[in-house]
Amino acid sequence: MAQIKVKIISNSRVSGNYRHLEFESGLIAKHAIAGQFVNIKVVDGWEPLLRRPLSIHSVKGQKVKVIYEILGKGTQILSTRKPGEFLDILGPLGNGFNSLSPNTHHLTPILIAGGIGVAPLVFLAEKLKLSKPLVLIGAMSKKQILCLQEFKALGCTVELATDDGSVGFKGRVTDLLRIVLEQTPLETRQKSRSAVTSGNLFLTGQAKRVELFSCGPHPMLKAVAQIAGEHKINAQLSLEEHMACGIGACLGCVVATKSGYKTVCKDGPVFSSEELVW
Ligand SMILES: Cc1cc2nc3c(=O)[nH]c(=O)nc-3n(C[C@H](O)[C@H](O)[C@H](O)COP(=O)(O)OP(=O)(O)OC[C@H]3O[C@@H](n4cnc5c(N)ncnc54)[C@H](O)[C@@H]3O)c2cc1C
Ligand code: FES
Repeated sequence: MAQIKVKIISNSRVSGNYRHLEFESGLIAKHAIAGQFVNIKVVDGWEPLLRRPLSIHSVKGQKVKVIYEILGKGTQILSTRKPGEFLDILGPLGNGFNSLSPNTHHLTPILIAGGIGVAPLVFLAEKLKLSKPLVLIGAMSKKQILCLQEFKALGCTVELATDDGSVGFKGRVTDLLRIVLEQTPLETRQKSRSAVTSGNLFLTGQAKRVELFSCGPHPMLKAVAQIAGEHKINAQLSLEEHMACGIGACLGCVVATKSGYKTVCKDGPVFSSEELVW
């Protein structure tokens, strides 16, 4: 982890309230693991004092990209920062996803994103692309679906779920996950009934060893953990908590786990679903 001044390359609107911020940092680019984040001081002065945590979305050469939603004061100010200006950044922070599972070629990763939770999962999909991930993206409506083309360009199969049914499955992304798992023969359960196919929606063919990776709102992650438990599969979940220091010093971001309280910023943000106490 380093505290560095980075030069903004671009800071532009993607759609709606969503922005891409790209900056140059050989150090962060070299060390970043998918699921890690950077903590950004959005102004040079004191207001707002606290940094804002954003997931690392992609790394290309020495360029690092984050994608953010303008929500409040910090992200509003960040959206006004111009190419050529410098930002004070701490990173890369946190543990990141474990994408180095043994027998990767037998593993089918299913990535489940809720809203802006797509941000770290694009970086992860790039690391897992040889395993041909299935990506399930959930949002309120079609306009809030992000990064669809980025996942497709990486060779992922992508399925969408929207609350209003404006595109893809109508309902929650976790309902879609439940259907996918019910209709996929899993190696762990060796289900006897054959997979039902509908377009490219379901994972068909031989029994699969599945691992879930998810980032999104807390209730969604809780549902993913519950589904993972029911199917006896592992899920790596990236949590979002309000943060102050971002480096494990203030204990402002603790969550309950089976082995006691842990900090989301330093011990996480990625936790195993089995480890968390909901
Ligand atoms: C590890 C981590 C990674 C993150 N990655 C991304 C990302 O890639 N893209 C992105 O857009 N956002 C991400 N977030 C959330 C982001 O940090 C907050 O949206 C941002 O700090 C809000 O700052 P603000 O000043 O604009 O809003 P504020 O004025 O501080 O708050 C506005 C609203 O956002 C909520 N909020 C504030 N901080 C957080 C937070 N840490 N988590 C959840 N809700 C919050 C507040 O409750 C309030 O409703 C991440 C958070 C964490 C902890
Ligand atoms: S934000 Fe300070 S310990 Fe996590």
